[in-house]
Amino acid sequence: MSQIQLNQIKSDALKAFTAAVTSQDLYNQKVQFLGKSGALTEAMKMMASLPKEEKPAFGKMVNEVKSELETAYDQAELSLKNQEINSQMLNEKLDLTLPTSSRDPGKEHPVHKVTNEIFGIMARLGYSLRTGPLIEKDYYNFEALNIPPNHPARDMQDTFFVDETHVLRTHTSPIQIHSLENEKPPLRIIGTGSVFRVDSDISHLPNFHQIEGMCVDEKVSMSDLKGTITFFVREFFGPGLKTRFRPSFFPFTEPSAEVDCSCPICKGKGCSLCKQTGWIEIGGCGLINPKVFQFAKVEYPKWQGFAFGFGVERMAIIKYGVDDIRLFPANDVRFLKQF
Ligand code: PHE
Repeated sequence: MSQIQLNQIKSDALKAFTAAVTSQDLYNQKVQFLGKSGALTEAMKMMASLPKEEKPAFGKMVNEVKSELETAYDQAELSLKNQEINSQMLNEKLDLTLPTSSRDPGKEHPVHKVTNEIFGIMARLGYSLRTGPLIEKDYYNFEALNIPPNHPARDMQDTFFVDETHVLRTHTSPIQIHSLENEKPPLRIIGTGSVFRVDSDISHLPNFHQIEGMCVDEKVSMSDLKGTITFFVREFFGPGLKTRFRPSFFPFTEPSAEVDCSCPICKGKGCSLCKQTGWIEIGGCGLINPKVFQFAKVEYPKWQGFAFGFGVERMAIIKYGVDDIRLFPANDVRFLKQF
């Protein structure tokens, strides 16, 4: 093995490295020349047969060639890899403006939408949110609200009983009692959630939602109540909707009234939704009965108050002109998408 042969190996290798078009190609060439049985390695092995005094010089030459080839390989590899990445990026270019296959992100249920809107309006009047259990003691759902056992007023709300002393709450008014028992007046609270009644037709659901409001302060009158509800209804429905207060009866308020809004479907002419009356009842209200304060151990007449309870689905029906309340729990996407 001579220097000439060594130079030949070197120039062959350099040529092969330059000729390689892919990094895999290049690597194969490296194996050919620098690998375990590559040309340069073979040259090293031949060193054994050289006369002793020639070995150092030859060894040095082989090492120089080896390191030159390694440097040449590294450079070639770098430039080929770069080319490969660049061409891959060009070929696999992603068009991020392309519409994706459509995925339905879902939407807030109209009942929640309406509830949240109502919170927003009442929050501006200083009301804050309270909740309560769905299964209530008879005491909170009825007795503390001045509805004693066997009182005919219990028939106003057909009740699902859980056992002798517990019911599925028939209204959100028990939230009033929890608040009066646990908090100190003055109070402005808004309660909400599911309520249950044995009732089902075009305008009634066995499970629906209510919004309860309660204000307790030092001097509260019927005009405060009317002003609050009128403001609230106008903010929610817009100024075009007609409302009316009808004298009514609830054991827990005195005096009491029912709040009606004009029917959006027939515009007051009379239809099946409004039962030919032109009006849709959204709930009840009144000044808190002193007996309720007595049950909850709140001093009266130092503290006085008003309360109201509205049906959320009813409000949604009026706002959006839905003609059957049973569409809300049916959860048909085609219906829900419209809000
Ligand atoms: N809880 C009553 C109902 O569900 C509504 C109401 C609430 C009436 C507050 C007066 C005051 O029918």
